[in-house]
Parts: sequence; structure tokens; C-alpha cells
Amino acid sequence: MPRLDDLTRPPGRPARILYGGDWNPEQWPEETWAEDLRLMRRAGVTTVTLGVFSWARLEPEPGAREFGWLDRLMDLAHAHGVGVVLATPTASPPPWLGHRHPETLPRDEDGRTEWWGSRQHFAPASEAYRTHAAAITDALAARYAAHPALVMWHINNEYCTHDWGDEAARAFRTWLRTRHGTLDALNTAWGTDFWGQRYADWDEVLPPRRAHYLRNPGHVLDFRRFTSDLLLECYRAERDIVRRHTPHLPVTTNFMPFWQGQDGWAWAAEEDVVSVDVYPDPADPRTGAHENALVADLTRAEAGGGPWMVMEQAAGAVNWRPVNRPKPEGLNRLWALQAVARGADAVHYFQWRPSRQGAEKFHSGMIGHSGEHGRAYRETVRVGADLARLGPRVAGSRVPGGGIAVLHDWDSWWAGRHEGALSDRLDQGELVRAWHRALWEAGLPVTLAHPHHDLAAHPLVVLPHLYLLDDRSITALERYVAGGGHLVCGFFTGVADPDDRVRPGGTDARLRALLGIERIDEWWPLAADESTDCGTFRGGLWTEELVTAPGTEVLASHRGGPLDGRPAVLRHGRTRYLSTLPEPAALRALLTEAAHEAGVRPVLAGLPDGVEAVRRGDLLFLLHHGRDPVTVRVPGRHRDLLTGTTVDDTLTLDRFGAAVLEEHP
Ligand code: GAL
Repeated sequence: MPRLDDLTRPPGRPARILYGGDWNPEQWPEETWAEDLRLMRRAGVTTVTLGVFSWARLEPEPGAREFGWLDRLMDLAHAHGVGVVLATPTASPPPWLGHRHPETLPRDEDGRTEWWGSRQHFAPASEAYRTHAAAITDALAARYAAHPALVMWHINNEYCTHDWGDEAARAFRTWLRTRHGTLDALNTAWGTDFWGQRYADWDEVLPPRRAHYLRNPGHVLDFRRFTSDLLLECYRAERDIVRRHTPHLPVTTNFMPFWQGQDGWAWAAEEDVVSVDVYPDPADPRTGAHENALVADLTRAEAGGGPWMVMEQAAGAVNWRPVNRPKPEGLNRLWALQAVARGADAVHYFQWRPSRQGAEKFHSGMIGHSGEHGRAYRETVRVGADLARLGPRVAGSRVPGGGIAVLHDWDSWWAGRHEGALSDRLDQGELVRAWHRALWEAGLPVTLAHPHHDLAAHPLVVLPHLYLLDDRSITALERYVAGGGHLVCGFFTGVADPDDRVRPGGTDARLRALLGIERIDEWWPLAADESTDCGTFRGGLWTEELVTAPGTEVLASHRGGPLDGRPAVLRHGRTRYLSTLPEPAALRALLTEAAHEAGVRPVLAGLPDGVEAVRRGDLLFLLHHGRDPVTVRVPGRHRDLLTGTTVDDTLTLDRFGAAVLEEHP
């Protein structure tokens, strides 16, 4: 299997971190191209992504092929020593496709058409779309298979369309037949006897379109699964085409970060390189840094713990928030180094140079509108120099495994978001984010994981909230704890089975036994302005009226309110159960205590506030997410690879400063 390592550690050459971004030079006069490449070289750019959204240029009318401009670009890139990550252009079909084949356009749940004029206007089940997408992909792959600039394939872009149209309906039925076998089994799985929804014929089964009132949760859940699988089928089809032409080159598709639409675990398994786009808001650098860490920990886990790729981030401002702030000086570099610290071997941006026209003309680039003397490019050069320095020591090395696993699963996320939920404030993604942030703030080594993964490698597993758990996951948790593992489990977990059927007793009996819970009588969600007093902290979002099993220790109880005197936080053997969401400092304290008990220590003790420490291979990355200079104690003698200076016991990090330390020989 081709891997990222093939590009970052080429035989006989020094290892390197890939550095570059989306390049859309077809929007510029050709004189600009050579100028771009000159500036890229100066900045240490290794790779560019070409051709994302270029379908209308490559195939201006059905069957026509206009490759001349791309030939010249590929040749020019190669002549300048820049590798090309070549995108299949299928995320933005040319207007002629929608015009001639309206069925290639997606329909929303109200039956409204998404027209061309933007991008991502394709119906993934459409035969016409697939046929044309396959043809252009095949032509592209055939033409450039032997081109020396080509280093990787980038399939489509951020697969994210949804379609409730007629072709989607047919494909959905086929998918459902595979999953359920018979219509009877489907009726059972969805519980269609409720509200008289029983299906008598497959043709009656539709995507969950606009309906009068709440839709069937099993139906909606299966449609989300189906949509993820359908898009994955589109990815696979293009991947298989390019693989036939270039079996030696890695293939990726860029994920949106921590996003509901695709089952990241299933998708990553189909890629040679796992890549992700990450756009935290620079207006809040601390929250942004956490977002980076979360996305990195998830992407690294999806990549099996090995190197992964930042396919897109912004050098400065994006242009899709209500107010779009640039990155203050130093923040771009800090966040690039943070990704590398957490396992990235490739740092790419959207985009090299901002366009002068089109919807993203105010989106930042590695070189800004102010040009080669502007701050954006100056910082691009600096980042490139840092990555070039780190490459030989860093590329291919691994962030140590073990540590704390935060469990996350898409099936459960989807099921929990049903419109008939007890609280629309409850979102697995937000809970994973809150718990991960607590661990990140505590400086503990952490990764994300799925309950089916090998949990035994982790002394502590935390499970913020998995509404839906299959039997295999429950057994895995039982075995994990029986085998000596420590578990912290959050509320409203193990409530549903894979058909979104409530487990007997409300919460699975095996899970209750594991956590020392006799029963949960009521779930009591809290409104945004409500909280519960638990003595030493306040809890929000959720509470439960629960009865503990004999022998379970109550660590905190509710004081006042409807659950006065009832247990809120439990300990039972090596498990803890949180029936509410403690405020951030309390959650951090609670998880830190559990980590301590499980023998997991912070990466570096005694760090000043805002400093993140991450180990990768035998290096220690120190990243300062604050603005005021801080002094960090690092016992021993080290050398900072970024500056070449020797560090004896302490070092000072300035605003958004970073150091990458190796033990001094
Ligand atoms: C990404 C997309 C890019 C660009 C970027 C802007 O979602 O893949 O093409 O639009 O956002 O932030």
C-alpha cells in the first residue's frame, strides 16, 4: 500500500514534511504561474494541490478534453521541484452537466433543487453524474499517470452533499435490502407499527423527506448511514480508477474536521493517507488551539496512530464566518507546528494565492493580496523554513500510543441528534469536545478511539456520551474493565441499540452493572440557564434520577432542585459515572484524578497556563497559546531544533512561541 512515508521519506533523500496548498492558477494569466513557483520555492513549498473544481476547464463541453493548461502547469511544477497532489475535479460539475442532466442535481428534503452556480451540486446516486465523473477521472489519471510531478491523488473535495431525490431513493432501497434483507425486517428495525407507518412494498420506502411531524428515528438514522456509505461509494469508484493507473501513488480525500456527515472511521479505512481540513476561529486562539488538537487527535487515530495530513487550513482569515478575523502574527506558525507535534507529516493550506474574483476572494492565502512583501508571505516563508528544519528529525515518527482514549462513534452521534430527543442541547460532538478539552487543558496524552478498537492499550478510557452502543461495544467495555482498565462514562449512554430501539430498562443492564447503577428512573435535561449544585461544582446540560447498586460509592450528589440528595457522580470499582456535565474546571479535576489513578501523567508537569507539551518520537514540542511571555521548566539539557540553541532547565516562550526539544547529547 502506498503511504505518506513514501513521499516524506524518499529513499536516499532526507526526510521532509510536505508543505504547500491548493493552487488555482487557471484563474491567473500564465505569467503569474512562474512567479508563483519562484515564490513557492523561496518558501520551501514541496507540494501543491491542483485541479480541485477544475472540471469545467478540463471538459468544457461533454467529451471534450482540454489538458494543455494542466500539462504546462504540471511541467512547470516539476521543473521547479514542486510535487503535485492532483485532484479529481468531481466536486464541481460543469454547468452543462446539470443543464443536460437535471437528475445530477441534488434535491433537499423539501424536493428543492440545488442548482449549479456554486459547487458541490451533485447527486451522489445519479448514474449520469457517476458516469461523467468516472470518465473525467479516468482521462485525468491516464494522462498524468507517468508524469514525474504527480505524487498523490486527492479525490473530489470534502464530500458533503446530501440528496433526497428519486435516484437517491432507489439507491437507499438497495442499501436497505442489503442491511435488513426483507421488508418485514425493515419494519421491525424501524418499529413502523408506531403511528401506522408499516411498509407493504419496497417502492413505498423513500428518503426521509419533509413530513408533517417527527419522522421515524430508525428511518432517519439509516438514511444518515446510507448517505455516508453512498458518498464513500463515489470516493471508492474514483479511487479505484486512479489506482488502476498509478498503483504506487497514495490516494486521499480531505475530511471536514470532526463533522457529522461522514463516518470518519469507515472512510479512513479506505484511504492511503488520511487528510483533514481545519479552520478554527483565530479570534479566540486558545479555543482554536484546542480545536486543532481535537481534530489532530481524531485524524491521527483515523490514520491508525501514524502520520496524517493537514490538507487545508487558512494562513489568515476565512470568509465564511459572520466576522472573519485574520491570524495575528505568529499564530499561523504556531498552529502549523501544533499539527506537526500531534502527528501531521504534511501541512497544506487553502490556498496558495487568493483569487481576485469569485466567492472566496477575501479568503486568505499563503501569499496575501498585499503580495510578496506582505506579512502573509513573510510568515509563509518562516513556516516553510521551520518545517524544513524539522523534517529530517520528525517525518515518519509517531506520537506515542497509549494514554487516554476518548470514545467517539458516528452511529451514536447520528442517532442522538434525532428531532424527537429529550433535549436538543445534547450533542455527542459537543460533549466529546468538552471532555477532550478538559484532558487537553490538563496536559494529558490523549487520542480518540472507537469502542471496537483495542482499548487495552489505554490505561484510561473516557466515554463522554454514546447514546447508541452495539453489543460488541458493551462487551468490549466489560472486558476492558475486567482486564484492569479504568473507565469514566458520561450520562445517557448505552440507551439505544443499533436500530435506535431503547434497551430494556432504559439503559443497558450490562452497562448499569459495570457502572454500579441499579436503575435510572428519569432523565432530566437542563435548559441553557439551568444548572445543578453538586456541592463542589455545578453541573449543566443533563441530570438523571438514578438509584445506585449496592457497593457503589457516591462521589457527588445534587443539592436542592428536583433531584435534591440524589447521586450525581458515582464510583464503582475502576469505573466512574457522571450523570451531569461538570463545569470545565470540575470536569478537568475529575478526569485528572481518574487519570492519576490509572497511572497516566501529564506530558510535562508544572506547565504555565496556555502552554501545550506534546511528545512526538523522541522530541518534545512546547507550544505557547498565549500572548504574554512565559517561562517553562524542562528538567535537563536540551537543544531547540527551531533555533539551534541549548536549553538548560528553563526556556522562555514569547507570544505564540514554540520550541521543539531534543535531549542534548
Ligand atoms: C474548504 C474547502 C475549500 C475552501 C475552504 C475555505 O471547506 O474545501 O475549497 O472553500 O473551505 O475555507
